[in-house]
Amino acid sequence: MVAEERGTSVSKPPRRIRIIGIGSGHPDQITLEAAAAIESVDFVIAAAKSADDPLLESRREICRRHGAPELVAVPDPPRDRNDPADYTGAVTDWHEARAAAYEQVLLERDGDAAFLVWGDPAFYDSTIRIVERILARGNVEFDYDVLPGISSLQVLAAAHRIVMHEVGQPILVTTGRRLAAAVEQGHDNLVVMLDGGLACSALAGEPRWHIWWGANLGTSHQELVAGPLADVLPQVEAARARAKAASGWVMDTYLLRRPAVR
Ligand SMILES: C[S@@+](CC[C@H](N)C(=O)[O-])C[C@H]1O[C@@H](n2cnc3c(N)ncnc32)[C@H](O)[C@@H]1O
Repeated sequence: MVAEERGTSVSKPPRRIRIIGIGSGHPDQITLEAAAAIESVDFVIAAAKSADDPLLESRREICRRHGAPELVAVPDPPRDRNDPADYTGAVTDWHEARAAAYEQVLLERDGDAAFLVWGDPAFYDSTIRIVERILARGNVEFDYDVLPGISSLQVLAAAHRIVMHEVGQPILVTTGRRLAAAVEQGHDNLVVMLDGGLACSALAGEPRWHIWWGANLGTSHQELVAGPLADVLPQVEAARARAKAASGWVMDTYLLRRPAVR
């Protein structure tokens, strides 16, 4: 006998939004947990930065492999990338515009949805913040969960077969635009992400810096360079250009370390 026949009501489980880390490039980096989560949803929402966005195609391939949920491509709202004076304000406006665009998709469709987040959702990715914004707008009700992915940080360390810090020492993860300030503050073991302009070039005058660099990590066009920064910088630049030519996109992450003077 079903519950309704017994006179009790069964509430429908809340709609679910799943924020799924998908690793840093290769479809084999998807965890079993992430694969099951992709298969569990009715559709996937993905930002399209352009009509031929190569990262959108990677997500399409992942959907094809895991239950083939529909991929709903949402044109990404424009963002002020000219290093605006109010950087945080510009990013907040962009997040709000993204939240409004994704909310529209959720209003137009029923069922559970997923966001496939590059690497791990905890590192330099705002999907969690944007999903919280959609909830705060109050027009769509849902629960959400977050599934970890393999971050580019981890792929970099594994590819170079290194531990990211000396025994018991700390590590700072930062961005290209904050690298100079972090070095100024005395940090000497740093992972740098979001650095389209190789900000480490400015440190090449100090011979103690060593770099472990990787581009398009985890993909068949992965490039790796390691060595004293001043010596290998030209190799890094050439490898970066190769990765871009081969994949149509380039993303790089690197570890910089300067041994203490004893
Ligand atoms: C928006 S952040 C996303 C980071 C991601 N959530 C993660 O855990 O790796 C983009 C930055 O991540 C790094 N990145 C992501 N995928 C990469 C890859 N396959 N190879 C090298 N770096 C990558 C680059 O520093 C890039 O500028």
